[in-house]
Amino acid sequence: MHQRRAFLRWQDRARTIEGPAKRNEQGEVIDMSPVQRKFLEHFSFQCGYCTPGFVNATMVLLDKLKREPIAKDQIEATIMAALNDHICRCTGYMRYYEAVKDLVLATPGLVKDVA
Ligand code: FES
Repeated sequence: MHQRRAFLRWQDRARTIEGPAKRNEQGEVIDMSPVQRKFLEHFSFQCGYCTPGFVNATMVLLDKLKREPIAKDQIEATIMAALNDHICRCTGYMRYYEAVKDLVLATPGLVKDVA
């Protein structure tokens, strides 16, 4: 009988909450990602149950904005669309949204300069 082995490419791996963190050469987590740090700075979460979803959704948003920067007046709507499917029962979302907006504005190349 022929045994089948499942193959996963690195792109197929699920990204856990540790995924965005900075690692050393040995692969050990040594620091938070900018998204995680911003959520901490803004006190975005309390129990943390929802945090992995918000971190990953924000990572996806940042990747998208690197490819397709937006105008400054589109930031709120873009963040709302990116995070709207995530539920937080503790903080009422605003701190997550404010943290993401702060990060988007602080990261070069995500918002188009309007001349
Ligand atoms: S921090 Fe508790 S559900 Fe969001």
